Amino acid sequence: MEAGHKQILRGVVVVSVSLCFVRFFAEKEKLQHPGYLLKFTMARTTTEANVNGEVVTVVDKLGELSVSEEEVTSEPSAPGTPETSVSSQPQYSFVPFEPHPGYPKSRISLVNRFIDQPRELRVAVIGGGLSGVLAGVLLPAKVPNIKLTIYEKNYDFGGTWLENVYPGVRCDIPSHVYQSTFEPKLDWSDQFAGGAEIRDYWQSVAKKHNVYRYARFHTKVEGLNWNDTESVWEVTIKNLQTGKTITEKADSVITAIGRFNAWKLPSYPGIAEYKGVLRHASHWDPSFDPSGKAVAVIGNGASGIQLVANLQPSVARLDHYVRNPTWIAASWAGDVRQAGPQPYSDEQIALFKSDPDAYLKFRKEMEDKYWRRFNAFFRGSKDSTELRERFTQIMHERLAKKQELIEHIVPDFSPNCRRLTPGPGYLEAISEPNVEYIRTRIRRFTETGIETEDGKERKVDAIFCATGANVSQVIPFPVIAKGKNLQDAWNPELKGKSDEHHGFPYTYLGVATPGFPNLFFLQGPHGTGPSGTVPHSAETQLTLLAKILRKLGREGIKSIVPSRKAADDFVEYSDAFFSSTVLTDNCSSWYNGGRPGARIHGIWPGSAGHLTVVRQHPRWEDWEYEYLGETGNRFQWYLGNGWTSREADPQSDMTPYLRRPGEKVELRDVHESWWNLP
Ligand SMILES: Cc1cc2nc3c(=O)[nH]c(=O)nc-3n(C[C@H](O)[C@H](O)[C@H](O)COP(=O)(O)OP(=O)(O)OC[C@H]3O[C@@H](n4cnc5c(N)ncnc54)[C@H](O)[C@@H]3O)c2cc1C
Ligand SMILES: NC(=O)c1ccc[n+]([C@@H]2O[C@H](COP(=O)([O-])OP(=O)(O)OC[C@H]3O[C@@H](n4cnc5c(N)ncnc54)[C@H](OP(=O)(O)O)[C@@H]3O)[C@@H](O)[C@H]2O)c1
Repeated sequence: MEAGHKQILRGVVVVSVSLCFVRFFAEKEKLQHPGYLLKFTMARTTTEANVNGEVVTVVDKLGELSVSEEEVTSEPSAPGTPETSVSSQPQYSFVPFEPHPGYPKSRISLVNRFIDQPRELRVAVIGGGLSGVLAGVLLPAKVPNIKLTIYEKNYDFGGTWLENVYPGVRCDIPSHVYQSTFEPKLDWSDQFAGGAEIRDYWQSVAKKHNVYRYARFHTKVEGLNWNDTESVWEVTIKNLQTGKTITEKADSVITAIGRFNAWKLPSYPGIAEYKGVLRHASHWDPSFDPSGKAVAVIGNGASGIQLVANLQPSVARLDHYVRNPTWIAASWAGDVRQAGPQPYSDEQIALFKSDPDAYLKFRKEMEDKYWRRFNAFFRGSKDSTELRERFTQIMHERLAKKQELIEHIVPDFSPNCRRLTPGPGYLEAISEPNVEYIRTRIRRFTETGIETEDGKERKVDAIFCATGANVSQVIPFPVIAKGKNLQDAWNPELKGKSDEHHGFPYTYLGVATPGFPNLFFLQGPHGTGPSGTVPHSAETQLTLLAKILRKLGREGIKSIVPSRKAADDFVEYSDAFFSSTVLTDNCSSWYNGGRPGARIHGIWPGSAGHLTVVRQHPRWEDWEYEYLGETGNRFQWYLGNGWTSREADPQSDMTPYLRRPGEKVELRDVHESWWNLP
């Protein structure tokens, strides 16, 4: 190197190219060392993304930069040019002149990063049901530089469909509708798949998309603590195999713990003394054969209804304990429901596999119906009235053998106040002589059975509690931030203790809650629309979460939290909306946390289409932010050195927006893709 060049470099502020802020300052000393230049080895990394069914390769980031000290041997490049070793000739930069002495001096110094190189984000997803699996597929595709961990207490993915193995467990939504939008399974064996086939499907999606690499099975999250100094969540996890508890850190946490996973046994006196087989429906013992036994089933939610229909033919006696009446729907959306299997024929499956157009038409027609049931949710609507008339007639017909049950089972409240249950075979089962339908309340459990409030004891070999889950949706582990526990804030028992004890899942759009930064809920409160499907809803919610996480990563946001005003406005809107619907009739449901008259939080205040639109466009003005760096300047980290990483890479495609002449361009999509930028 010529002495002149060495001289020029001395004292010159060479702009380093660093992936992260911290590293920039760590290397600052070295940068100013005379005679040396930082050399950055950049590996172009690619991500595959699924776009409109096509797998496209996205060059979205440059890889880890390595820093080495090396004597400068080449000619200087343009001022401010980021250094790369992509070409064999190392380049470097220098600034030959000071700015004009009259030019305003900035309070901040530049952070030397490319604008399109997001910081690494450690994201912890709690739960590996279908929501967690979809998170493992979609978040890595949509959030560059994410470091994902999925904590799952079970031994595998599947959630609801892994845990629930009671007789007759089956989806009440058609198989071809209850699946992801982007991984259609063409060979569902049954129109309404059994639990095991649904479990296998989601595990196969996880395998295909390599989601297992993010999984930490047998790992139960026992607590979350927000470290305000570091702006990270400390996640307390217990290894259920070793019993060891440790804490790990995450920049952001997404709960995907399911609404029905925290199942609970009832708390009747004497329950601990009962000597027979006692099981919750979600904790079935497959080794127990109820055939020929006397059994009790408590609860007439969807699980109880399925259990009764499936146990009745084989047991000697079945006592069915029911607190409240419920509607039995013919079907969800006009699909024919039968008590037994409704298999697809080999010919149908062969057609789906051989003719994609025929399959798409079939699925679209079937799925379309699930978006159109919304009007029946409005009190006094024509659809609601018609549903009531139709269901009443069907229930009378199906209870023909035991007409005396009608007054106990046909509700006063409107259909849809509780989630509808098609219940194929249920009314027929309770009409059989070996079933007793018991509306008298339970007083206590005895050693041998159940005693009702009229003093009558019914002895049984087994009691199956289909009593649902923790429908208050209070998160079943402490979530502490800034001295507050989210469990207390949402606990109905503590309602009104202070203005922060809401007594219900107080959220902003069901996705986050004030006071708890970087914490998001997936398929939690208000997670799904009254219409639509669960998998679609999980996908759109994840897409919203991906937008939020991209913002965190790209803009140097260390914390994001919804404002209290935004959450209050959402609650106020929800109250106005739900009061016009049948959901606020006098019924107990998981929509209202099992408390008639309590706020509806189980479902979105609007249609599924409405929810999809809301998730498409985040309202950034509803959030509060804290930025990386000491100065508080929101642009210091975000705008970086003024460059994009693509510009620094001579191999990159700077014109990805250009198309072949004649190629159809969807004008609404022009310049909309976040990944397709110069
Ligand atoms: C018996 C049953 C039948 C159902 N049938 C239908 C149906 O027919 N149609 C329909 O639309 N919906 C149905 N549902 C609702 C169903 O739960 C959802 O459709 C869907 O499966 C929810 O998926 P998820 O991933 O959000 O939650 P889940 O499937 O509940 O998964 C949550 C996961 O989180 C894990 N987890 C929870 N807490 C922790 C923790 N602390 N640490 C680590 N891991 C944790 C659990 O182990 C579980 O794997 C049914 C529910 C039940 C219980
Ligand atoms: N594919 C399916 O068909 C299917 C099957 C299972 C579940 N699911 C889904 O999972 C959801 C939850 O269903 P779920 O049946 O598990 O729960 P659920 O709908 O919450 O029903 C719980 C039932 O238990 C009763 N109950 C609760 N505590 C009780 C107590 N202490 N004593 C007596 N009865 C008690 C409730 O009675 P009250 O209502 O009177 O309080 C209710 O009938 C469903 O809504 C559905 O979304 C679907």
